[in-house]
Amino acid sequence: MLTPRLQRYAQVDSTQHVCQRHAENGVTEGLVVVADEQTAGRGRMGHTWYSPPGQAIYASLLLRPKLTVPQTNWITMIAAMAVIDTVADMGLRAGISPTPTNTPTIKWFNDIFLNGKKLCGILVETSVIDEEIDHAILGVGLNVNTDFGHAPDEVRERATSLREAWGISLDRERVLAQFLDRFAARYAALGHAQQSPAAAYAAHVDTLGKWVRVQAADNLIEGLAVGVDDLGGLRVQTASGERIAYFGHVLSAMPPPSPPSPQ
Ligand code: BTN
Repeated sequence: MLTPRLQRYAQVDSTQHVCQRHAENGVTEGLVVVADEQTAGRGRMGHTWYSPPGQAIYASLLLRPKLTVPQTNWITMIAAMAVIDTVADMGLRAGISPTPTNTPTIKWFNDIFLNGKKLCGILVETSVIDEEIDHAILGVGLNVNTDFGHAPDEVRERATSLREAWGISLDRERVLAQFLDRFAARYAALGHAQQSPAAAYAAHVDTLGKWVRVQAADNLIEGLAVGVDDLGGLRVQTASGERIAYFGHVLSAMPPPSPPSPQ
């Protein structure tokens, strides 16, 4: 079982960078770099991650998984589910009723949304040596108590925090400890079974059943999102048959167009 070892910082550029340096120095699996503030928090596709001091979880976990390169997507998938488990645990403890608006969902592939806004981002960066995984760094940015009052407009419009959604502040340490517990359990299960977590993951993916436009590398895929394959790819039913998007970004997801009514 993964035993997390926390290394705390008041301020770093990015917990991913700090963790990466440790990984390159041969540090073993389980190190968790946690910061109160990031000055250069990073998201996917070159985006920055809004990281004001003392309000959210900014953590990077060093893993040395026995998985193939494509299977490293499983880490993102179990991390997303561990975030959802954690939010449910915290809600239960705080007496928040688990209504659809209080329950987070996954926007394929790695975004956790709450009530239409982004609550948490997950970034998994892997290092491959001789076609084998040397290490993976799981970065989690979870907006626990974040106040977006001073955030750039585009962040304020799209992001939320548990405090904003539920109207209460939570103990970040407790939320992090819960997340690490939940993640460790799912990671251990992955190691034993070597089985894709796709079915459990798909149950939380809000993108399914929607009409999507997905940017995957140079391709724009448009159609009905019908499922998630074993490696986390989004299965899209298009006019020319099923296509699977890997490493893509959902540009839009709408209710499917209704079939033409009979004349
Ligand atoms: C995304 O949604 O684009 C992923 C965001 C990941 C942000 C976290 S915060 C902790 C870790 N350090 C970083 O610089 N990024 C990740």
